[in-house]
Amino acid sequence: MRSLTLPALTRAAGTVRLPGSKSISNRMLLLAALAKGTTEIRDLLDSDDTRVMLAALAKVGVGVTTLGADAWRVDGCDGVFPVKDADLFMGNAGTAIRPLPAALALSGGHYRLSGVPRMHERPIGDLVDGLLQIGADVRYAGNPGFPPLAIHPAIVKLAGPIQLRGDVSSQFLTALLMALPLTGEEAVIEMTTELISRPYIEITLNLMTRFGVNVEREGWQRFTIPAGQRYASPGVLHVEGDASAASYFLAAGTIGGGPVRVEGVGSSSIQGDVRFADALQAMGARIEWGENFIEGSAPAAGKLKAFDLDLNHIPDAAMTLAVAALFADGRCVLRNIGSWRVKETDRIAAMAAELQKLGATVEEGTDYIAVSPLPTFQAGVAIDTYDDHRMAMCFSLAALGGVPVTINDPACVNKTFPDYFDVLAEITAPVIAIDGPSASGKGTVAERVAAALGYHYLDSGSLYRLTALAAQRADVPLDDENGVAALAGSLPATFEGGRVLLAGDDVTDAIRSEEISVGASKVAALPAVRTALLARQRAYRRFPGLVADGRDMGSVVFPAAAAKVFLTASAGARAERRYKQLIAKGMPANMHALLHDLQERDARDAQRSVAPLRQCEDADLVDTTPMGIDAAVAAVMTIVKRQGL
Ligand code: DC
Repeated sequence: MRSLTLPALTRAAGTVRLPGSKSISNRMLLLAALAKGTTEIRDLLDSDDTRVMLAALAKVGVGVTTLGADAWRVDGCDGVFPVKDADLFMGNAGTAIRPLPAALALSGGHYRLSGVPRMHERPIGDLVDGLLQIGADVRYAGNPGFPPLAIHPAIVKLAGPIQLRGDVSSQFLTALLMALPLTGEEAVIEMTTELISRPYIEITLNLMTRFGVNVEREGWQRFTIPAGQRYASPGVLHVEGDASAASYFLAAGTIGGGPVRVEGVGSSSIQGDVRFADALQAMGARIEWGENFIEGSAPAAGKLKAFDLDLNHIPDAAMTLAVAALFADGRCVLRNIGSWRVKETDRIAAMAAELQKLGATVEEGTDYIAVSPLPTFQAGVAIDTYDDHRMAMCFSLAALGGVPVTINDPACVNKTFPDYFDVLAEITAPVIAIDGPSASGKGTVAERVAAALGYHYLDSGSLYRLTALAAQRADVPLDDENGVAALAGSLPATFEGGRVLLAGDDVTDAIRSEEISVGASKVAALPAVRTALLARQRAYRRFPGLVADGRDMGSVVFPAAAAKVFLTASAGARAERRYKQLIAKGMPANMHALLHDLQERDARDAQRSVAPLRQCEDADLVDTTPMGIDAAVAAVMTIVKRQGL
């Protein structure tokens, strides 16, 4: 896809399960590879950067095996990569090309590391200088100071402390810290400059400890790895959610009302980027912390406040603040972010250029950026993303300025978060919830409204109908709550061009029979079935928007829906419509029996303990008893337009 146009967004609310952290995933993979024993890593991030690391490890002879569901088994090589000659392509993955050369330089083999053209512009000289001091044979295969690199066997000597710069990237220190225990000797690293991005070093040290290697740290100047330590697998490890990725959703909640909850990081996180939430709080956002979640909402009153902050400790998440600044009440200054210039792109220049496209006033310095808020956003802007995942993710938030925003090359998010836009849609894409009793015509109306707006359409009743049919086919009694819920949780159902398929079988007509209608109403009364279908229904919320019809769309599934309609008609009118439909299809029908069935089903849907059928307080009532279908569609469209959709 060359570009993705996000619709104007007005609200963000909901819960997001974060993908695994990139920083933790790639560190754990390398440490597990270097360790003695087998490690199982759960919730590993599945993205370009982790694939680069997995492929490189496999190429140097480390056993890496997928166990399914984001779990991987790594058979450690106890410090010695078995393959002694390899060409390794590292794409644009800094978390792979920085730490690997150090470990490879101590492995006694011939290795060549290269990347995409941008990677060959990203400095690596400080790391090479560090490695040369211990006698490693690392050479520049292109421009001095930059990848590609050629590594050859060498005898390594740890004579005195290694002198290392820390003001360009903290990843060089991470690389040496992770590799030096392989020598078995005492190793000392002394920083010759200020060390930036310190929280990332804390992640490194924390993970090394889990593999049995402890580092003595004197402030941020001197690091000592005592002699005789070897990495040993801790068995099973779990990757936390990505705290940098959390920044987009927390900011969305703060800008778009909220609450937005991110799950997978929280107060017990080892990632420094969770401190991004403090910056939002300084802007007046309401932030709530749990052990494994963070929640962000808009300030209790008024706009977000302007800020002037040193953001050296959260360089990645800080980009999100540059876009959040557009929504503040004054000029915001992001300081001490010089490392932005050597990331996936020159992020200071890129950020300034794209913010200006939206109409913002921006001041750019060597290591800072100042952004003035935007009272009105320029509509129809196309944002360039510079092959930088974070540019794409940050600028998606501009759509909360109430204008459509086009993101060029949206697939660059694959680097760390392949389904970012789907997840963003689940908390921001506008939803029109149309609830009402059986045969009120809401299905037809909802489909027509969706077509008029170009939105997606969810017929939630069909999921309950499919569940009833699946239960019937599997001989599971309809009162076996857990049995039916298990079927609902893994329905092999697909919707293709107006047809409904169950395990590849066309069941479009079968799920509309009276028997299945009654069965659907029975399974819909089972709490476990409703829970099992919840996530599936929410996943239909995609850009540019969704029209969902059912019984609890506005109350349970999409409580923050932008527009809520309760569409009804008298039981007599509904029975008559159903009668005409059946006759038109040449099916037998009895008006009296239909009315009786409808009333029974209404009663069951309204009386059940979970999600009973009722009109939400904030839903608009449309009584279609006297209306034809066109009038009903027009009535709903009027409500939808009133919400600015
Ligand atoms: O809308 P429908 O007639 O296709 O729905 C079939 C059954 O499923 C009906 O008895 C009500 C139930 N249902 C529900 O409980 N909640 C929904 N969101 C949709 C349908």
